[in-house]
Amino acid sequence: MKVTTKSILESKGKKVMTMLTAYDYPMAKIFDQAGIDMLLVGDSMGHVVYGEHSTIPVTLDQIINHCKAVSKGATTHSLLIGDMPFLSYGVSLEKTIENAGRIMKEGYMEAVKLEGGSARSKEISACVEIGIPVMGHIGLTPQSVNKFGGYKVQGKSIEVAENLLNEAEALTKAGCFGIVLEAIPWQVAKVITETIAIPTIGIGAGPYCDAQVLVWQDALGLFDDFTPKFVKKFANVKSLIQDGVKAFKSETELKTFPDIKLHSYEFPEEELKKWNKWKK
Ligand code: KIV
Repeated sequence: MKVTTKSILESKGKKVMTMLTAYDYPMAKIFDQAGIDMLLVGDSMGHVVYGEHSTIPVTLDQIINHCKAVSKGATTHSLLIGDMPFLSYGVSLEKTIENAGRIMKEGYMEAVKLEGGSARSKEISACVEIGIPVMGHIGLTPQSVNKFGGYKVQGKSIEVAENLLNEAEALTKAGCFGIVLEAIPWQVAKVITETIAIPTIGIGAGPYCDAQVLVWQDALGLFDDFTPKFVKKFANVKSLIQDGVKAFKSETELKTFPDIKLHSYEFPEEELKKWNKWKK
């Protein structure tokens, strides 16, 4: 059954939901068919698709192109969420609505995600009011890496933890249908999850969140430039690909690929006779 923002809201306290990132057609199709509840076209593509050192350079056009591809692959189950890249929001109310609207209209997404707490309340309410569902994101918000001075766990003091709870409450009030909690102590995530009325989606936020999300290249072992503590590798796709590439190279060099019967085309019988005559 198709997941909607409404069913995500209704899942709270009843069912643990799942979310993975997706950036292209074939992976989106696999995740959708596997029953992953939410697919996020994340600006993490900066790292895992484009080899950037942060998410800051990711553009709205890049996000929209990947959204389009994902929407073609995930057609049956997953709720599709497009990430708003750095400075595509937070500049003016009009720009936020216009850019979120492009992610929906051109990228065929069903919701958007943006980083930040109460400072984003007005923009979120305006989007929700006009028909654009919004997922919030607090804790370690990667677009603020330069403000944080690195990718550091957030909410490690009571003051910051208290502030995170206030921000989660502000996002709930603003109309978000869910909030990503990234890299915060599990105790803080648990209190937030128990306090707010909307689902929390944890990444490095412990086991008590309402849902869990991972970047697929981390979860399936394709990306190993850096691996945060919260990542569990559920597969080793990199070594599978390496084995396949080695096999292609060696069989091609040994001329055992392509096989003349299995992987080659030939003339039909009649044409073959003409061909053999012509050849002489
Ligand atoms: O961009 C992204 O992939 C994200 C997830 C890590 C939540 O924001």
